Amino acid sequence: MPDPQKQPVIVLLTSHWVTMAGVALVTLAGFSWLFALPANIRGNVSNPYIGLLTFIAIPIVFFVGLILIPIGITLGRRRAAEALNPPVDRKAAWRRAGMFFTIMTMANLVIGSQLTYRAVEHMETTQFCGQSCHVMKPEFTAHLLPPHQQVACASCHVGPGATGWLASKMAGTRQLIGVVLNNYPRPIESAMESNRLVASADTCEQCHARGKVIGPRLRMHSSFKDDEANTRSETVLMMMVGGGNAGGIHGAHMGPGVHIRYAASDKKRQTIPWVEYSNGSATQTYLADGTTPDAARALPTFEMQCVDCHNRVGHAFESPEHAIDRALASSQIPVTLPFVKKTGIELLKASYSSDDDAAQRIPSGLTAFYQQKYSDIWAKRANDVQLAGQALLAIYRDNVFPDLKVTWTTYPNNLGHMDDPGCFRCHDGGHSTAGKKTLTQDCSTCHQMLAVDETDPAILKTLGLGDTLSSAAKQ
Ligand code: HEC
Ligand code: HEC
Ligand code: HEC
Ligand code: HEC
Ligand code: HEC
Repeated sequence: MPDPQKQPVIVLLTSHWVTMAGVALVTLAGFSWLFALPANIRGNVSNPYIGLLTFIAIPIVFFVGLILIPIGITLGRRRAAEALNPPVDRKAAWRRAGMFFTIMTMANLVIGSQLTYRAVEHMETTQFCGQSCHVMKPEFTAHLLPPHQQVACASCHVGPGATGWLASKMAGTRQLIGVVLNNYPRPIESAMESNRLVASADTCEQCHARGKVIGPRLRMHSSFKDDEANTRSETVLMMMVGGGNAGGIHGAHMGPGVHIRYAASDKKRQTIPWVEYSNGSATQTYLADGTTPDAARALPTFEMQCVDCHNRVGHAFESPEHAIDRALASSQIPVTLPFVKKTGIELLKASYSSDDDAAQRIPSGLTAFYQQKYSDIWAKRANDVQLAGQALLAIYRDNVFPDLKVTWTTYPNNLGHMDDPGCFRCHDGGHSTAGKKTLTQDCSTCHQMLAVDETDPAILKTLGLGDTLSSAAKQ
């Protein structure tokens, strides 16, 4: 039995098992934190679960312990008072205990605020958002691709200030409950679909100035036909991006004073029957063919912003065609394998019950095709076929997540009009004002078509790129 006179703190801390448990937890957290200090200083760790442990679990243990100590002291106060009865000098004993607890509280405030700060910071990392929880796997995977792979999830998903932070933590808690109860929707809704996307003024426009004049931008890409030779062709578009007062695509929707509102009749905002344009001086209302103003008025409306066109910049999923074109153009899949594009697309679009099922059947499907139809090629180039099978599987894994019901067509991309309605949700030639002014569908207002699916376009020679491409094609 310690001398209560000399060690009132020990009396207090041992007077009830709850206090002792609290002390044990605080000590445990303190030591674990010391061990994790190097990671703490760097602010990140490579393994998501160690990250969860150091930045989230340790602070929780620490604070639970801290709360238990006073609770235990209250519960055990009678026993403590008895132990501290005269002949003990109670005043001196309490003074000592008071001093001990003041110093400890100050130390705990320092450690506690440091832990809280790191926890809050950690909860903003891409690792915490994207990897703690399997549900985010599609977005995490797609986010690894340019251009925003270095931009934290929170930069696009958390609004400014304390309210933004609180809203995101509340949404996070709701999602956590969904995961625990296993009743979250599959696929999870896109952020615009659930109408929870933070306005682009608080996200995109913090890094990209709205009024920037970008001017025309050259875009080219190679595509491959589904014939035996996988014939290569080039598309070269000059995108009239413009911006600011310079008009063009950005200027028309985002220029100074311009406000466009639209009404959508589905949650994914793919059907847009009503559009209102104003530039400060004039207002125009465009209605889709067959829509009455009354029907449109009943629908929810939205102010047009960056993400209405660039909705997949954070995590783009590709179409099977584009993905294979890219792999062929970069020689990840050898273009000299006959019908590799056509067969690849069939294999990618087939349905698989799970990741493992796909991992088994996609490569073996490609192998089987060459074994049966091109045994000479299989005999000579089995290795190429196997590598192509792995490249196909990698494409599948980046885009399709069977257990979360995310597949090629789950999340439409609004930038364009080939795979999804995109620009043509409004620019379909069927949206007009009462005065019969129609939202343009003129190809060259949006892009000069310098070459469309041409095998050897003159424009690339003019640009000095002819040789580069033909040597790429030969490889
Ligand atoms: C550059 C901005 C940006 C970044 C960075 C970003 N996102 Fe997104 N995210 C968006 C936009 C825009 C949408 C809305 C897409 C839509 O509605 O079509 C979205 C939608 C989502 C959705 C809803 C499902 C879906 O695919 O539409 C989830 C979940 C999500 N993001 C998670 C993440 C995670 C996790 C990260 C980090 C690994 C991340 N996001 C990084 C912009 C971003
Ligand atoms: C934290 C800063 C940041 C935020 C937030 C951000 N971006 Fe970016 N964005 C960048 C950087 C950096 C690049 C890459 C530039 C490069 O690679 O040349 C980029 C690239 C882009 C590109 C591609 C340009 C190209 O060359 O193809 C587009 C389009 C774009 N951002 C749109 C958006 C949109 C829309 C949002 C909001 C949903 C957004 N960005 C949010 C920093 C940001
Ligand atoms: C009406 C649709 C639309 C809206 C709204 C829009 N953009 Fe764009 N933006 C485009 C198109 C189309 C391109 C050209 C894309 C391409 O072909 O790569 C583009 C290109 C860009 C680029 C790439 C420029 C480059 O250097 O290559 C950036 C960055 C960008 N937009 C950012 C933004 C931001 C930020 C906003 C919001 C302030 C915004 N956009 C609003 C349609 C839009
Ligand atoms: C929500 C409806 C909507 C969507 C979606 C939309 N636009 Fe527009 N667009 C408009 C409106 C409204 C105008 C302005 C019409 C006016 O001047 O009265 C406009 C004007 C334009 C103009 C200028 C036309 C001219 O005659 O000078 C271009 C270029 C353009 N849009 C390109 C695009 C591109 C590219 C996309 C897809 C990436 C797109 N728009 C998506 C509503 C839309
Ligand atoms: C409202 C603006 C707009 C109009 C009108 C428009 N386009 Fe486009 N188009 C786009 C955008 C945006 C893209 C996507 C560019 C990108 O992906 O970088 C695109 C892409 C394309 C592509 C390349 C698609 C691919 O994946 O290979 C072709 C081809 C094309 N458009 C043809 C046309 C033709 C033909 C017309 C006229 C009937 C037309 N477009 C009208 C905005 C428009």
